[in-house]
Amino acid sequence: MALPKLSLAAGALLHLLSAVNAYPGRPVTSSTLVERADQLLPEYDYIVVGGGTSGLTVADRLTENGKYTVLVLERGVFRNDSFVTTVSSGFWGLFDPTLTFAFDSTPQEALNNRTFIVRGGMILGGSSGVNGMQVVRGQREDYDRWGQYFGRNSGWSWNSLLPYFRKAWNFHPPSKELVKQFDIKYDTKYWGSTSNVHASFPTMHFPSLKTVMSAWKDIPGVKYPADSGSGETGAYWHPASVDPSVMLRSFARPGHWDGIADQRTNYHTLTGQRVLKVQFDNHKRATGVVFVPANARDQSEARTVKAKREVILATGTIHTPQILQASGIGPQKLLKKANITVVVDLPGVGANFQDQPFQVGASFNFTNFPFHPDLNDKFSNATFIAEADAEFAANRTGPHTIASGNAGSWLSLPVIAPKTWQDIARRYEAQDPAKYLPKDTDPRVVAGYRAQQKALAKAMRSRDSAIYNFFLRGAQDEGSIVFLHPTSRGTVYIRPEDPYFSPPEVDYRALSNPIDVDILVEFTRFTRRYFTETRLKELAPVELAPGKDVQTAEQIAQWVRANMNPTCFHPVGTAAMMPQHLGGVVDEKLLVYGVKGLSVVDASIMPDLPGSYTYQTVYAVAEKAADLIKARA
Ligand SMILES: *[C@@H]1O[C@H](CO)[C@@H](O)[C@H](O)[C@H]1NC(C)=O
Ligand SMILES: *[C@@H]1O[C@H](CO)[C@@H](O)[C@H](O)[C@H]1NC(C)=O
Ligand SMILES: *[C@@H]1O[C@H](CO)[C@@H](O)[C@H](O)[C@H]1NC(C)=O
Ligand SMILES: *[C@@H]1O[C@H](CO)[C@@H](O)[C@H](O)[C@H]1NC(C)=O
Ligand SMILES: *[C@@H]1O[C@H](CO)[C@@H](O)[C@H](O)[C@H]1NC(C)=O
Ligand SMILES: *[C@@H]1O[C@H](CO)[C@@H](O)[C@H](O)[C@H]1NC(C)=O
Repeated sequence: MALPKLSLAAGALLHLLSAVNAYPGRPVTSSTLVERADQLLPEYDYIVVGGGTSGLTVADRLTENGKYTVLVLERGVFRNDSFVTTVSSGFWGLFDPTLTFAFDSTPQEALNNRTFIVRGGMILGGSSGVNGMQVVRGQREDYDRWGQYFGRNSGWSWNSLLPYFRKAWNFHPPSKELVKQFDIKYDTKYWGSTSNVHASFPTMHFPSLKTVMSAWKDIPGVKYPADSGSGETGAYWHPASVDPSVMLRSFARPGHWDGIADQRTNYHTLTGQRVLKVQFDNHKRATGVVFVPANARDQSEARTVKAKREVILATGTIHTPQILQASGIGPQKLLKKANITVVVDLPGVGANFQDQPFQVGASFNFTNFPFHPDLNDKFSNATFIAEADAEFAANRTGPHTIASGNAGSWLSLPVIAPKTWQDIARRYEAQDPAKYLPKDTDPRVVAGYRAQQKALAKAMRSRDSAIYNFFLRGAQDEGSIVFLHPTSRGTVYIRPEDPYFSPPEVDYRALSNPIDVDILVEFTRFTRRYFTETRLKELAPVELAPGKDVQTAEQIAQWVRANMNPTCFHPVGTAAMMPQHLGGVVDEKLLVYGVKGLSVVDASIMPDLPGSYTYQTVYAVAEKAADLIKARA
C-alpha cells in the first residue's frame, strides 16, 4: 500500500533548517519526515520505536520492497551539525546535551559511591551519530555462546551472523602505503561491499602506533589475525565508520534513511516524539503505541497509533526496558509498585544489565619519544592544527581523517594472566550466583546468570575469547584500557513514582562481583609488563597511574574503585535473548515472550557482551532482525 505523500509545513521546515543551519543553503532532503502527529495514518504495518542505529536499519529493510507501511517514531530530531558529521570530532558529540540523553546513575557502592552519567545518542541515527566510530567485531566464540544458551541447533552463531556483518558494512581497505608503513593486515572476505554504511581507514596514522602495535609481539601468546573481522583475539587494526568518498561520519541516518525515506511513500518518520507504552488487545497482541511530544511532562497530549503486524522496539538498552516495564511487561513486583497492570511477569526485563568499564589497567608516558606528530599535537600544537585544517580543506586527507583510532589489542585471560587465569576461572565458576545478584532476584534470572557463569568461565579459559582491550591512540602517553567481559550485573528499572517520564533508575552494580576486582588487578599487572618488559622499554616509559606506590592486590583494587568508570557507553542485556526459563525476554526470533506482535531489535537483546565494542554488532543484529521479521510477515 502506498501512503499519501506528505508535504512539509513551513513551521517544520524552519525547524529542520534550524537544525542544519551550520550548512546554510543545503536543501533538506527528508520530505517524508512527518511534521505533525495529526498527519500520521491511523495504522501502519510496522511501528519502529526509536530511529537509532538498529531502528533505521530495520525500517530501511522493511520498506525496501514497498509491500509494508512503516512508521519510525524518534524522540530526538534530525541533526546534521558538525559534531555529528565531522570525523575528527570523534565522540565529542556524546558530550553535547542537545544530541544525547544524559542523566545520573545510582551511586556505585563499590566505586566509593560515585555516580556516573548514563548517555546515549538522541537524534535521528541514534548513538551511531555520536559514538567514536570504532568498528570492531567480537570473537567467534561470542556469537556461538549466544546461540548455545538455546541448545545445539540455534539460529544464532558466528556462522549465521557473518553474512549479516557482510550485509551491514561496506568495507574500504586502507591504502597500500598505509598497509606497508604500519604492517596492517586485512582480508575482504570478512566484509561486504554493498551497504550504505561504510567502514574505512584514515589516510594517515600517528607514527608511534607502529612501535606500540609491534610490541605485542614480545608478549607470549598474542596473535596478529588476518583481519579485524576474522573473529579472533590478538593485536589488529580496525576501520572506522567513515564514508571515504566525502570523509564524513557514516552512520545509520545517511546509511539507511537520507535519500531513502523520501523516495518510499510507504515510509513515514516522526521525530520529537516519545513513546510511553505499547498497547495490547485481550489476546495480548500488541496493537499500537501511545506517544507524546518529547518535551511533554504528562499525558495530556498523548496520542495512539496502531500497528497491524508488529511493534518493533529499538530504543536501546536503557530505554527499551523502560518502555517494556511501563507497558506491563517486566518483574511483577516492580510493576505492582508502580501501579502498572501486569501483562506478562517477565523478570528479566531490566535485569542482566552490562557495560564495559574503562579507566582500568595502567597508563604510561614515554620520556624518550622520537615520534612526531602524535595525538597530543591535535589538541595543543597550533601550527600542527593549522596545517591539518589546511590539508583537510584542500585534499580531505591528513590527521583530520582519524576518528577516535584504529589500533589495539584484544587479549584473553590466559594471555594477560598466565599465572592466575586458572584460579580466577575456577573461583568464578564455584560462586553461588544468587549471592552476587540483587537480593530477591527472581529464580529464573538467577538460573540465566548460572548459565552465563558457566559460559563465561569457559570464555575465561579460552585463548580465543578476549577480556582485555588496550585501545592505542598514537600519543606520547597511552593507557586506554577496557574490560570487555565484566561478571557483575546491574539493573535498569522504572521509577515507580514516575514510570513514564523520569529516566529509569540505572544501577551498573559495578564490581558487585569481586571476581571483577581480581581480574582488574591482573589488568594493571599485565599493562605494566607490556610497557616495561617489551621493546617499549627503549622509549623510557614512566608510569603515570596507578603509580609506583600501588603494588599489592589490595592497593590496586583501591585504585580501581577510586578511578574506574563503569561505562564505555556499550550497554547490553536488559531484554536478553535467552530461553524464558533462564530469565530471557525475547526468543531467538527476537519476539517478546508472553505476548504477540512485539519484538526487540537493539543491543538490549545481546545476552552478554561481545569481546569487542558493541557498535559493529548492533548493525549485524539489526540486519538479521529485519530478515526474521520479514520471514514471518
Ligand atoms: C549533512 O552535512 C554534511 C556535511 O556538511 C553534508 O555534506 C550533507 O549533505 C548533510 N546531509 C543532509 C541530509 O543534510
Ligand atoms: C556508600 O553509601 C552507603 C549508603 O549511603 C554507605 O552505607 C556506605 O558506607 C558508603 N560507602 C562509601 C565507601 O562511602
Ligand atoms: C611525558 O614526558 C615528556 C618528556 O619527558 C614530558 O614533556 C611530558 O610532560 C610528559 N607527559 C605527561 C602526561 O606526563
Ligand atoms: C608542532 O607541529 C609542527 C608542525 O608539524 C612541528 O614542526 C613542531 O615541531 C610542533 N611543535 C611541538 C612543540 O611539538
Ligand atoms: C594537497 O595535495 C596536493 C597533491 O598531493 C599537494 O601538493 C598539496 O600540498 C596538498 N595541500 C595541502 C594544503 O596539504
Ligand atoms: C498506587 O495506587 C495506590 C492506590 O490507589 C496509591 O495509594 C499509591 O500511591 C499508588 N502508587 C504509585 C506509585 O502511584
